[in-house]
Amino acid sequence: MERKYKRKSVNTVFSCMLAFLLHKLCLSEKICSVPSEPVTIKENNTIDTVVVRIDTKTKDVTLTLTENPEGAFGLRGFDLILKKRLDFETMLNPEELTVHIRCNKTGFRSIALTVRVHIENINDNPPSFSQSEYSLDVNELTPVNTSVGLIEAKDADSGVLYYTMEPSVNAHFRLESMHKPSILVNKFLDYDVIQHFSFTLFVQDTPPPSLPGQLSYTATATITVHIKDIDNRPPWFQPCMRTTLGTAKICLSVGYKGKVNLTERQDGPLQLQPGPVYARDGDKSRNEEISYKIVRGNEDSIFQIDENTGNITMLKPADIPGPIFLTIVASQVANRDQFASTSVNIEVVKKSRNPPKFERERYDAFVYSNNGPENMVLRDKTSNRPFRVRARDDDFANGINPDIRYEVQYSSYVNITMDGFVLLKKAVRTDSFALQLRAVDVSTGESGTATLSVLVLPPVGVQSPSEGYRAGDMALLGFVMAALLVLCLIVIGYLISRLKKANPDTLKLSEVSIFSAKLLFRTVPATD
Ligand SMILES: *[C@@H]1O[C@H](CO)[C@@H](O)[C@H](O)[C@H]1NC(C)=O
Ligand SMILES: *[C@@H]1O[C@H](CO)[C@@H](O)[C@H](O)[C@H]1NC(C)=O
Ligand SMILES: *[C@@H]1O[C@H](CO)[C@@H](O)[C@H](O)[C@H]1NC(C)=O
Ligand SMILES: *[C@@H]1O[C@H](CO)[C@@H](O)[C@H](O)[C@H]1NC(C)=O
Ligand SMILES: *[C@@H]1O[C@H](CO)[C@@H](O)[C@H](O)[C@H]1NC(C)=O
Ligand SMILES: *[C@@H]1O[C@H](CO)[C@@H](O)[C@H](O)[C@H]1NC(C)=O
Repeated sequence: MERKYKRKSVNTVFSCMLAFLLHKLCLSEKICSVPSEPVTIKENNTIDTVVVRIDTKTKDVTLTLTENPEGAFGLRGFDLILKKRLDFETMLNPEELTVHIRCNKTGFRSIALTVRVHIENINDNPPSFSQSEYSLDVNELTPVNTSVGLIEAKDADSGVLYYTMEPSVNAHFRLESMHKPSILVNKFLDYDVIQHFSFTLFVQDTPPPSLPGQLSYTATATITVHIKDIDNRPPWFQPCMRTTLGTAKICLSVGYKGKVNLTERQDGPLQLQPGPVYARDGDKSRNEEISYKIVRGNEDSIFQIDENTGNITMLKPADIPGPIFLTIVASQVANRDQFASTSVNIEVVKKSRNPPKFERERYDAFVYSNNGPENMVLRDKTSNRPFRVRARDDDFANGINPDIRYEVQYSSYVNITMDGFVLLKKAVRTDSFALQLRAVDVSTGESGTATLSVLVLPPVGVQSPSEGYRAGDMALLGFVMAALLVLCLIVIGYLISRLKKANPDTLKLSEVSIFSAKLLFRTVPATD
């Protein structure tokens, strides 16, 4: 019985001890606790920010930080606080910080608490370009949509960046996209038109336009693109006519002209029209060195060209009259593939010993005052034959030089035809006029002159009175006619008044006439 009791009490003691232990365990579970979910803290926090409050059920609990990442945490009473400002960008593992805290109380089992802290990234850094100014080079003729360069900004918050350029409407360059600041050629670049171009590249770390109250940072950089003149054009002979061929610019030479005397070697460079043979690089700023060569037309080796200056000189005289056509090529010394050609037309002229000479030094001719434009100046009054001049050139056997051209000097009334006829250009209002005629040999430039006096005569062969009488004559005639008319009227009036006074006489007169008629009638049968 006693043993049974003993065993029972032992059981009770065990049970009690178990209960006590359990109780102790339960108590230790409860002395402190923290929420199990992670706590989120924004970076750039203020110091003393409370991360979490440690829940303690009893007094006299001692808390110890056993793991303190970055040394950033601290305890203030039962609060886990931040002791320093956290920077998301410089932390090793900002999104998963684990803080361990130990809770002790005498007589209780110590507890290890774990607080997981997430640091949230906020926009606290501006974007920035590594340089404030960038200089880029691009060749002219670079195809449209080719990238000239990629200029990116950095932002420690590592968000998406938004780029724009100013001026935003820009014909020559554009950005590949708002997020990719690759500078693309937007339009065919011609060094002649544009040599460099500057613009501002803007970057913003929030989508534009920024909303009020939104944290937003920007940065700018100045970008200058230098367009490089590439060797795309050959030499251009000067002067030349500019024209375009699609996007290409070309300049065409019209050629050169010169003159040399037959069987005469000219000293020094030939004088050419419109100027000396000269070419300049079509790529203005490259201005490549150019050399000249005669490639055709110089079979007799009469001419020589200075390969550096383009001046043409004669090695020997030309012995055949007529034109000589030289083809000249100008090429870039460094790149012979860039060349241009032109022609030089040299006329070999027979030397003139005599200038043109009019047959007479002075001429006289006439026109009628009623002649007008296109009427010829006349020579001969009786036949009205046209006046004509001729200039002779004794260098020609027959005296006729086909290169003679006639000119009129010092007169606005007339012009002269190629054949030497003189034409009125307008009606003449003076009694006479004089002028100078000039005969020019256009092949040599030599000339001769003569004077011409033109007499202006009244028209001959007046038929129509309206043409023949002047206003004064007509007035006089009218006056005489009027006087005669008045005289006639007076005479008629006088006669009528006389007839009325002598009325019987009139009757008698009528009787006499009837009687004489009867008499005449009677005499006719008497003749039967
Ligand atoms: C808390 O208890 C642990 C183990 O129980 C012990 O190592 C530590 O020193 C104690 N800390 C304090 C402050 O009493
Ligand atoms: C960071 O904190 C400082 C001081 O509190 C404040 O002036 C600044 O505006 C904060 N920056 C951001 C991006 O919140
Ligand atoms: C350049 O790119 C734009 C946009 O992608 C396109 O519309 C255009 O046709 C391209 N131009 C050329 C010449 O490739
Ligand atoms: C040709 O000869 C004429 C007359 O002697 C002279 O005036 C002229 O200058 C010469 N022309 C040239 C191209 O040498
Ligand atoms: C080339 O000719 C021009 C005239 O046509 C002259 O002024 C120049 O001095 C000449 N140059 C040389 C190198 O002879
Ligand atoms: C004179 O006539 C010539 C043709 O013979 C012509 O070429 C020229 O233009 C004329 N001049 C004037 C001023 O009418």
